[in-house]
Amino acid sequence: MALPQAPKLLVTPEDSWQGLRLLPLPYSSSDFAPGKKPGDTMLDSAQPGGASLLVSLGPAEEITLETLRRSGGQAARWLLEHEHAQVGLPVAMLDALEIPGALEAFCTGLVLGAYRFDHYRAKPPENQALQPLQAIHLLHSGDGGDLALQASRWQADLSGVYLARSIAHEPPNVINPASLAQRASEIAQASGLSFRVLDAADLQALGAGALLAVGQGSQGGARLIVLEYPGSGAGLGQPPVIVVGKAITFDTGGYSIKDRVNMVGMKYDKAGGAAVLGILQAAAEMRLSTPLVGLIPAAENMISADAYRPNDILTTLSGKTVEVISADAEGRLVLADALTYAQRQYQPQAIIDLATLTGGVVIALGKVRAGLMSNDDALAQSLFEAGERSGERLWRLPLDDDYFELIKGDDSDFKNSSELRQAHPIVGGIFLKQFIEPGIPWAHLDIAGPATADKDLPYSPKGATGFGVRLVLDYLSTL
Ligand code: BES
Ligand code: ZN
Ligand code: ZN
Repeated sequence: MALPQAPKLLVTPEDSWQGLRLLPLPYSSSDFAPGKKPGDTMLDSAQPGGASLLVSLGPAEEITLETLRRSGGQAARWLLEHEHAQVGLPVAMLDALEIPGALEAFCTGLVLGAYRFDHYRAKPPENQALQPLQAIHLLHSGDGGDLALQASRWQADLSGVYLARSIAHEPPNVINPASLAQRASEIAQASGLSFRVLDAADLQALGAGALLAVGQGSQGGARLIVLEYPGSGAGLGQPPVIVVGKAITFDTGGYSIKDRVNMVGMKYDKAGGAAVLGILQAAAEMRLSTPLVGLIPAAENMISADAYRPNDILTTLSGKTVEVISADAEGRLVLADALTYAQRQYQPQAIIDLATLTGGVVIALGKVRAGLMSNDDALAQSLFEAGERSGERLWRLPLDDDYFELIKGDDSDFKNSSELRQAHPIVGGIFLKQFIEPGIPWAHLDIAGPATADKDLPYSPKGATGFGVRLVLDYLSTL
């Protein structure tokens, strides 16, 4: 089935464009026709050169990259509702704001706001376009050379977000660890990434007892998906950054079963893995300098006679043993083995994991920011700043060793969760930290909140947001 494709960002000479024009304008006075709120729109069909859609950017002094993304998203919604497949955007109007990154931000909102996951519908619901937005023409008067280069970078980035959203959206009767590996191999092939997958037998031979345990209650068992991008130019031969993404294709909670309300939506428990796919695809497409490795531990957390259970003691790939307290704290188990694999197979310059790890982080930070935990202040600061720039925002939580008390083992090295309802996101982070060798900069992003939207947002419809793709690519572009 064809996944949704991001509209193309094309570079087109201003005087050759005949179609609808988007005109983003700062709000100026009370008789400003489009309106005061960023994203308010007004169609002006009376122009001699063709129709224009005026898009309010809000009051000039209140414009930020985030308000620009939101205005772009609102404009995309208008275009979808009115079934415009093509639109022109005069770049000079955004350049005139003199805000660095304004054009990129507005285009980000436009492209991401046009996302729809509708290929399972026999017919679109009312008010929804039959026809997707196909192209955004960046209208320019000069030679457009630099613009084309920038636009191709943005395109790669935003196509990565589309991919991450779509993979996360796919239902669990379509995406399981085996079919996820199959999709990953197709993406790798199309993007020129190297690919391999470790199946249950390979993981057994290796001794990845934690990842295997989580997968053992489901039909196909677990997988570890490995994607490699070699870097380009000066980055070739440098140590890689490793991105690790939790991909639980469905999380029932296992024998620590979730109730019927909390189980719905657990197809999104693969959002971290989906983001890693998006990041790797984008890196290859934009020929990023830094070498990357993507690791996706994939399993389905199910119940059966073979499923793992509370009180099982697992031997992880690291050799450390873990007593299962909750079969619903499965994400940290699959990540543990992937983190060990990352350090055994490679000499990473940094490791970043993305995971919908805890409901607790949603209680703490809501859906606005993801939790950031790290053993390295410089890495944490760089990621935090990438979050502020990209709008995929983070907030750091502590990882004091004192929290380890909560998961000290009785009969094993440690437990996978605490019996107490204390500091769940931090306990998840402390658990993962046990698998990081001294001196390896590592950051854990608990994306359980912002990985999904529970209602339409200005540039992300309800469902998977693709959170983490733009954030990590922004961080990587600073290296
Ligand atoms: N996948 C869930 C976390 C989650 C919850 C993601 C809500 C998105 C929305 C995770 O595997 C889980 O169940 N975590 C437990 C951990 C606990 C048992 C320590 C949780 O958050 O309750
Ligand atoms: Zn769980
Ligand atoms: Zn989970």
